[in-house]
Amino acid sequence: MRVLGIESSCDETGVAVYDSAHGLLSEALYSQIELHSRYGGVVPELASRDHIRKILPLIDEVLRGATSENGQENLPEDVSKSSENHSTTSKTYHLQNTARIDAIAYTAGPGLVGALLVGATVAQSLAFGWNIPAIGIHHMEGHLLSPLMESGDTGFPFLALLVSGGHTLLVDVKALGDYTVLGQSVDDAVGEAFDKTAKLMGLPYPGGPQLAALADVGDSQAYDFPRPMLKKPGLNFSFSGLKTAVLLAWNKSAQDEEARANIAASFQAAVVETLVTKVKRAIKHTGRGAVVVAGGVGANRALRASLTSELAPLGARAVFPPARLCTDNGAMIAYAGWRRLQRDPASAVAASVRPRWPLDELT
Ligand code: KG4
Ligand code: ZN
Repeated sequence: MRVLGIESSCDETGVAVYDSAHGLLSEALYSQIELHSRYGGVVPELASRDHIRKILPLIDEVLRGATSENGQENLPEDVSKSSENHSTTSKTYHLQNTARIDAIAYTAGPGLVGALLVGATVAQSLAFGWNIPAIGIHHMEGHLLSPLMESGDTGFPFLALLVSGGHTLLVDVKALGDYTVLGQSVDDAVGEAFDKTAKLMGLPYPGGPQLAALADVGDSQAYDFPRPMLKKPGLNFSFSGLKTAVLLAWNKSAQDEEARANIAASFQAAVVETLVTKVKRAIKHTGRGAVVVAGGVGANRALRASLTSELAPLGARAVFPPARLCTDNGAMIAYAGWRRLQRDPASAVAASVRPRWPLDELT
């Protein structure tokens, strides 16, 4: 079965074709970061409009990537990736089903309602035109299942740590649709905490990666920032107090390069210790042998190093999918669509979008 996946829940337009026999045939991703950076965060209405501009060119591109000139399908060596600029709506797209797509999966939630509606409407319209089913996918389920797409050795059950700009979730992934949220952030998401900390020290949005780079040259013991919720039982997280501690430290500091690097390093150390401690707790609680890390913060080198070394003594391992699968992408939606359709072909129904959608409501 061949599934076209469409992701448009936030500030990335992602499209991909997943083939159950050959894997990922083609993928394309467009990030709106530049568009939103001057506002210091994602502006929902601008996000929707930009999805409208990019979605058809990207679908056109992945369909071409999945079909060669003579109409034969391309095999995985030909996977096309692109982040190039796409022209705006002036062009008319005649999207033919030359890539022999069997179904379309789109992100139905959670996310920004306008952005979700762009993907949902295009997916439903194409499916109607091509007379194939369309299936609405839970964005977080896409993240949870993405490691299964390429790392053949990670099977159910496993733990997942989803750490992005919008989410901080620790999930027990028992089987398809059987997820228990063990812990989540009660306030800011961890990526959001990185971005806000970076912003208050004058770094441009999204400051997470730059803060992490600064942390590499700073002294992680220069400041003793709180390790939020570590003393409390349970697996929830809280990052807003840490952000306040950083603000106080920054205001009292010389506000120079050295202070910035030391605060970045001390902040990162507090975040990493908090995340790793909770993951270890979750492993002891569930007995799972693997933790899959997804989401943009999964790129953080200190987090990766600490998880790898701290889990080994527990007989568990940390799995880091490739960066392009960690961040928002169309491939994970195509893959989740295939898994769901394989289990239950009737699950392709005209679903409306759900901007708020608790993961554990899935069955
Ligand atoms: O999953 P993602 O690409 O997208 C959404 O959240 O939608 O995650 C982006 C988040 C941002 O908050 C960014 O600052 C953070 O991941 N991030 C990092 C690093 N790379 C990206 N945070 C800490 N260290 C990094 N190396
Ligand atoms: Zn995401």
